Parts: sequence; structure tokens; C-alpha cells
Amino acid sequence: MSLDEVDKLRNEMKQITNQILGLIGQRMELAKKIGEIKTMLDLDIVDDKAELGVKSHVLDNSKNFSLDPEFTGRVVNLLITEAVRIQNIERMKKLNQVNNNLNNTSGNIKKNGIKVDVKNKTYLDNSSLEGKGPKIRSHLDVFNFAKTLEANGKSIIHMEVGEPDFPPPVEVRNELSNIYDSGKFHYTQAAGIAELRERLSKYLTTFFTEKTESKKHDNFVNPKNIIVTPGGRFGIFITFSSLLRPGDEIIVIEPAWPACHDCANYLGVKTRTVKSNLENGWEPDLNDIEDQININTKIICLNYPNNPTGKILSKETLKKIVVLASKSNLYLLSDEVYSNYAYRPFESIINFGYEKAILVSSFSKTFAMTGFRVGFAYSADKNIINKLINIQALALTSVAEPMQYCASLALNSDPQINRRIMKERIELVCNGLKNLPFEYVVPDGAMYVFARINKELKISDLKLVESLLDNGVAVAPGSGFGSSYSNFIRISTCIETQKIKTGLEVIKETLGKI
Ligand SMILES: Cc1ncc(COP(=O)(O)O)c(C=O)c1O
Repeated sequence: MSLDEVDKLRNEMKQITNQILGLIGQRMELAKKIGEIKTMLDLDIVDDKAELGVKSHVLDNSKNFSLDPEFTGRVVNLLITEAVRIQNIERMKKLNQVNNNLNNTSGNIKKNGIKVDVKNKTYLDNSSLEGKGPKIRSHLDVFNFAKTLEANGKSIIHMEVGEPDFPPPVEVRNELSNIYDSGKFHYTQAAGIAELRERLSKYLTTFFTEKTESKKHDNFVNPKNIIVTPGGRFGIFITFSSLLRPGDEIIVIEPAWPACHDCANYLGVKTRTVKSNLENGWEPDLNDIEDQININTKIICLNYPNNPTGKILSKETLKKIVVLASKSNLYLLSDEVYSNYAYRPFESIINFGYEKAILVSSFSKTFAMTGFRVGFAYSADKNIINKLINIQALALTSVAEPMQYCASLALNSDPQINRRIMKERIELVCNGLKNLPFEYVVPDGAMYVFARINKELKISDLKLVESLLDNGVAVAPGSGFGSSYSNFIRISTCIETQKIKTGLEVIKETLGKI
């Protein structure tokens, strides 16, 4: 044993690393070629079946290399993610080329072997509204573009964003004026102030848990198992960043608010999607969920009441999902920010006694406090919450103390009135859509109607969003909630009744002109 020997081994490692990189380079060249063919044939770049096929093939072989199968799976996922990235870049290049050649052409044509639908020109880059504004992919892009139009003097009815128009509770206004005099403007514990966590524990015990004997007492939900976060979105971000490593996988049921997918992507985590559809009343197929579980799966993400569909899962379905998760020892992240807006019985994930369940919620929707940026997460497993607290301390020390006190006071108010108003608005939109060329399932909850555009209209979501914006109404494109929903729009009910009525009139007139 000598240092010379270490040097020799290190040299060997260098060479092997070079060989590995050379092979990866070859693999990426193959990926490019496959990508070109997919573009020519107008096929999706991501092919779950093919990916899982590669994974199981490699995992079978990994035994021969005495590698940890989970590690092998993560490495394969990283290779696949890079291949998808390269294929996307190549596709965009090709489509831009075609786009440049197309300006004065009309009708459906084939150019350079790529099928192009000129009427729905949005197919070309799936992103810009005829070059008038920035790239549009999601409800937030529409919102930003609508704001620019407003700044230029156009009047817009906002049916694209999910921001309740109600005032925050009056208790919050009083607290805001108290804060300066009472000196509540300091760093706090990373987990949040004790007062708010105590109150949240009572709130969760009262409103989120079933009223069984064992859960009746005030603090069934231990305040120590709660972390106060700057909004639900950050709750999701710290959950992923504390529990996942690059190459891990999560399962998301689509259509879905895009944040889970985006956070995962940012962290090098692979998202496997399970698609639900209107015909099945947005009920996810449990077999599809099971099919997506593999050695790298770590979290199943749920969001009910759902954005954008408003679906609420039954207790029985949730129970089955819990069983699936526990069979594979997975975390269950349940984003319940719309729980106040439930128009039929809603069951929180915290009622299933599953230790690896994490509830994420927020003051944004329930109490109309979006700009206060206060949310929270809870898990029956304190270790999980401790991990979240560590990441939060690292990233931002604590949530702003004044906002925590405001949130604490908000819990004294009753948000039921918000729920009642939102339900009436949902009914109003559903009734208005009845006579229009849309199909939808009446939402069980939340603040949106997710409506499918009748195919007779032969118009994509982005094209319809564009026409509606031209006529002064902003709605969200369905494709922002998953690639299979480009024939849907999401109509938000966060504006007053009169504006909703006018918005529906504009939608009707716009469709009449198509
Ligand atoms: C499903 C879902 N979760 C979380 C959030 C974010 O809420 P917050 O404002 O608390 O970050 C939203 C916002 O639209 C949402 O739709």
C-alpha cells in the first residue's frame, strides 16, 4: 500500500471516466437522431413506455455490475432527461426554421418533412400569440400579457388567474396597524412563531380531521409538526428539495397546476404523469399510477380540490392511493390549498394515518391573502418537518414576522362566506357555458371551470386565448396544465358576478365569429 498505488488507481479512474463520457456522447448522438425522426413523424418527445423499457432493461443488468439498483435508476434518469433536453432543442430549431419560411403561406402544408397546421399557427412554437407579445404557455403568461395590454389602454376582464377578489379578514387589517407599535418585525424561528403554529394545529384539528374520539381533543395535530412557509408554493419547493435527489422521480396526476413539475425539473427530478380525462370525470386510473411506480419513485403528488378541474377524490379512492404509496414506501404530498372551496365532502390526507403524508396548504385562497405569502405544511412524521425546517432556515431564515401575526389573526375569522360566493360563481359560469360549444364536468370544488372546446370549432386553446384577449377577456390555456389539454381553457371565477356575466357574453360573441 502506497501513495503511488493511489495515484495509479486515480489514473485508471480518469481513463474510465473519459470512456464513460465518450459513451454518453455517443448516446446523445443517437438521441438526436431519434428526436429528428420523432419531429418528422409529429410524435411526442417524451415517451414514458420507451423510458421505462430502457430502465427495466438496464436494471436487470445492473446486478452484473454490483451497482445499487436505485443509483443505477437515477443515473439512467439523468441520461434520459438530458436526451429529452437535446431533442427539445433540436425540435425548436427545426420548427423555427419552418416558421421563418412560412410567413405568407396558408392552409395545411408539409415542409421539410414537418407537418404544419397553419390555421392554428400556435402549433409552430406552441408559445407566442402571433408574435404580438411574449411567449405564452401558462395562465401566468396570459396574466402578464393582459397586464401589458391594460397598460396600453385596453380593458381586460381577468378570468385567467386564481386570486380571490375578496378582502382579507378584517382581523388582519387591525393587526396590520398594530404590528409597528407592538414591535412584531423580527426574525422568527425558521418553523414559524409558536402562536401561529398553535392556532394552526387547532385549525387543522377542527377543520381538516374527521371527528373521531381519538382526534377530538384540541391539539390532535401537534404544532411541532407544522412549519409556516411563505406560501403553499414554497411548501412544495422545500418538500421536494429536502426529500429528493437528482434522478429521483415523482408522480403527478394531470391536468395539474404546473409548479410540481417545474420544481421537480429544476431539481433534476423526473416527473412521471398520470393523465385523467373529462370522460372519466377527472378520476385518475389507479392502475396508471401503479404502472408509473418504479425503484426511483419517491413522491406521489395530489392536489384536490384540483386546479384546474375542481375534482375532489372520494375517501375510497384516497384510501387506495394511500395503500399504493405505502406498498412502495412513498411520500404522499397533498396540496390542499383549495380545501375551503369544497362543494361536496372533502377528506384531508391527514385523516388516513399515513406517516409519510405531507399536507401543504396556504392562507392565499382560503382567506384571500395571496400577497401576504403565508402557507404551511404538516406531517405526522416530525422528521419530515424537521428536514423542511432546515431547508427553509437555509433559504430564507423565516417567514416575515408581521405576516405570520396577520395569518394568526385570520384564523379567528370564518372563511365560509368566501366558499359560498365562489360556489355561486362556479354555478354561474357552468350555466353560461351550457349553451356554448364547451364540455365540462361541474367542479366539486376550487375556483375554476376547466372546459373542453368543441372540436367542430377546430381551434386550439392558444388560438382561442388569443382571440378572447383581442376581445378583452383573459382565460388560461389548457396546455399550461399538461400537454394533453390543448383543447381546453380554464375559466377562473375570482371576479365579481357582473364581470363574469360580461366575460361570458364576450366568450359567446368571440366564438360566434370563429
Ligand atoms: C394548486 C395550487 N397550489 C398552490 C398554489 C400557490 O399558493 P400560494 O399563493 O400559497 O403559494 C396555487 C396557486 O394558484 C395552486 O393553484
